[in-house]
Amino acid sequence: MKFFEGCMALITGASSGLGEEFAHQLAPVAKTLVLVARRNDRLVALRERLLAEYPACSVFTYRADLSQEKEREELVNWLQKQQLPINFLVNNAGLGDSGEFSTAEWPRIRSMLDVNITALTHLTYLLLPSMLRTQGAAVLNVSSVAGFFPLPNMSVYSATKSYVTSFSEALAMELRPKGIIVTALCPGPIPTEFAETAARPYEEPRIPHTHSMPAFMATPRQVVLAGLQAVVAERPRAIPNPFLALAIGVALVIPFFLTRKVISCFRTSL
Ligand SMILES: NC(=O)c1ccc[n+]([C@@H]2O[C@H](COP(=O)([O-])OP(=O)(O)OC[C@H]3O[C@@H](n4cnc5c(N)ncnc54)[C@H](OP(=O)(O)O)[C@@H]3O)[C@@H](O)[C@H]2O)c1
Repeated sequence: MKFFEGCMALITGASSGLGEEFAHQLAPVAKTLVLVARRNDRLVALRERLLAEYPACSVFTYRADLSQEKEREELVNWLQKQQLPINFLVNNAGLGDSGEFSTAEWPRIRSMLDVNITALTHLTYLLLPSMLRTQGAAVLNVSSVAGFFPLPNMSVYSATKSYVTSFSEALAMELRPKGIIVTALCPGPIPTEFAETAARPYEEPRIPHTHSMPAFMATPRQVVLAGLQAVVAERPRAIPNPFLALAIGVALVIPFFLTRKVISCFRTSL
């Protein structure tokens, strides 16, 4: 964790799940943490817990709906006013939608595109100029193994995560010579609020993805640690679970028509 000593990190989606865990793992070493999400009460409660345990770390909370361009710009203006030069951006906020595309609700689809793709890209764009002026800056984009394949019943979500992985890999190559590390963290199922948020209240409940693939599960603690270690190792991509990493490795070398067949077999449990 030496790499993160004295860092000024911004964590999106810090009100639950992985975002909250990133805050816990970074607080012992970071100089400053900026916690961003919509549920401000949760951010404030987390800030209090972190300050009680790690008084040397300055913790700020900022309520923002990251699907809104104006709110993203206001966040970055606020960071400038507060003189908080972020050198570690954790683009973690994201959401899914579980079910067929034809029965999806447009506001949910739009939110996925806005948060998973646009907010991640825009925040990176807005914060890059100041990161380029700092030594040892990094961007950690939380993607998903869902981004490696087109997944029926998660079609838009898996497409957004393909974008995140592809964007991160390209950016890693562009920015490495400029001293900025970019990593895409690609976890499998993790027990967080994700499945609950992705469920559709107007349809029969589906089996949560954390139940259908137990061998590929990892805890938030393991996933976050693997992500931070990948940044330190300057790896552009991290798959936290070794079984999953192996399965993805195999799936990526076999002909795609076979992969498509396997995905179709698992269709009902996706
Ligand atoms: N859990 C899994 O199985 C899994 C697997 C692979 C990848 N991932 C990825 O991991 C990341 C974190 O998810 P999680 O598992 O920790 O789920 P989670 O517990 O549901 O956390 C999602 C976070 O995103 C924030 N968020 C959602 N919409 C937002 C918006 N419009 N504006 C600001 N913040 C917003 C939420 O905060 P508010 O609601 O308070 O705004 C929350 O803090 C996501 O990118 C997800 O795609 C999760």
